[in-house]
Amino acid sequence: MAKLHSSLQNKEFWYKDITLIPNRLPDFERDAVDLATNFTKRVVLKTPFVSAPMDTVTEAEMAILMALMGGIGVIHYNFQTIDEQIKEVEKVKKFQAGFVFNPVVLSPQNTIQNVYGIKDKYGFFSVLITEDGTLSSKLMGIVTHRDIRYRKDMETKLKEIMTPRERLIVAKKSETVDKNDLQIANEILRKNNLDTLPIIDEKDKVVALVADSDLRKNEQYPLATKDENKQLKVFIAVESRLGLAKERIGKAFDSGIDGIVIDASVVFKEQLEIAKFCKQNFPQLDVVLGNIGSAEMVRKIIEAGFEYCDALKVGMGPGAACITQQELGTGRAQASAVWDCTQEAKKLEKKYGFLPVIADGGIRIADTIGQDMAKPGDITKALALGAQTVMMGSLFAGLDESPGEKEFDYEENRMVKKYRGMGSIEAMEKRGALRYGIEKMKIRVPEGKVIKVPYRGSGYDFIPQLIAGVKQSLQKQGFKNIKELQEQADIRPLPKQN
Ligand code: XMP
Repeated sequence: MAKLHSSLQNKEFWYKDITLIPNRLPDFERDAVDLATNFTKRVVLKTPFVSAPMDTVTEAEMAILMALMGGIGVIHYNFQTIDEQIKEVEKVKKFQAGFVFNPVVLSPQNTIQNVYGIKDKYGFFSVLITEDGTLSSKLMGIVTHRDIRYRKDMETKLKEIMTPRERLIVAKKSETVDKNDLQIANEILRKNNLDTLPIIDEKDKVVALVADSDLRKNEQYPLATKDENKQLKVFIAVESRLGLAKERIGKAFDSGIDGIVIDASVVFKEQLEIAKFCKQNFPQLDVVLGNIGSAEMVRKIIEAGFEYCDALKVGMGPGAACITQQELGTGRAQASAVWDCTQEAKKLEKKYGFLPVIADGGIRIADTIGQDMAKPGDITKALALGAQTVMMGSLFAGLDESPGEKEFDYEENRMVKKYRGMGSIEAMEKRGALRYGIEKMKIRVPEGKVIKVPYRGSGYDFIPQLIAGVKQSLQKQGFKNIKELQEQADIRPLPKQN
């Protein structure tokens, strides 16, 4: 177990109040550090990062980024309808796959306008054309970006511009899908310099497709968090109301989610019923419960339903957009909350089994104007305190991949993006009040605020920096993986800074 300095025992402390002391003589390079970790009992990540289910943080684009980088995204539920959230899940699942089993198809009677509609919805242009625009009729052709890019008339029918069936190179289901052999499909794509390869059955019906861009992405992102079908993994946030949650979980299960985060500012009893419902009806899904902030809560949840819970999320108002602590006088200093909860989970491990903890919120990066460096120290501290993964909101809200546009802030003289707490009046007005259990109340007490965070550019540049920073921190302390860090970290207090 990590060593927590005696002056920190039974005290409240934040990440900024502690430091990790290097006591070893490292004899390996930074890249030898392995950050593999458990997000839940069954979902293993190569990168311990999770993006928060907030409407200024995680929709499909962020979830795709996180999963490609070896972490995972949790899609928020602050939409007007469940279907809108499901659409985001579908985008993630369709984004990258070996075999895409449910490809989007159109009919020859559809128009170029419809292809642009698909681009808006899913982010790609290549569409297979079947006789009646469904997967139950025969393949007729394909339309790709090349076929439409210089076309001005959006009403042009696809039958006029598609590459017709007789000129299409296809692969047979019996030789690819049935043998679960992507390699053959890959070779056909490369040999013929194709972008997309339809896979058909003996009746010429489309069974799947394989896209060259997906294969390249598979090679480009070796850390990616994927399911058995090479699709990216994704979780969704679910409200803590049983009736609504049942409907959401059922629909989301069909769209291929890998698990749920039952998301409330404090775990209450109904969440256990939702977790039980989910485990009994959809045992394939992993269930995260949150939020909690004390050892007592850990014990109560484990004793009441260890078998229904696959991870616990710790964070009582430490977030950048949180005002729960000021408004309601409840909450905890995050670093001490993480320590207490992980120690309790560890204590109960012998009797019940392993339960991962997610440290949610309070990760800060010091920004100076014009010099926006990733300083991942807080992340390593959270891991050293026993968390398996770290959930972040404000840090990721400034990336290109979060919802919303960047804007110039004249007061601060820099580019910013909007970030709002899900308990802010603004978010509640959209829908977020459920997280705070007050959607039916007339008087609303906000537990979050709207702020601006520095624009941080592309996550595809930013996240690798953050990963390298965490690895470097472990290497400096002489630890090759998170387990060693958690067993041997030397955690000491820092003097109060002005
Ligand atoms: P960071 O510090 O990464 O924190 O921005 C993200 C976490 O903040 C939580 N959250 C809230 N907490 N009022 C709160 O007290 C809110 O309005 C609010 N919105 C989000 C949430 O746990 C998230 O993961």
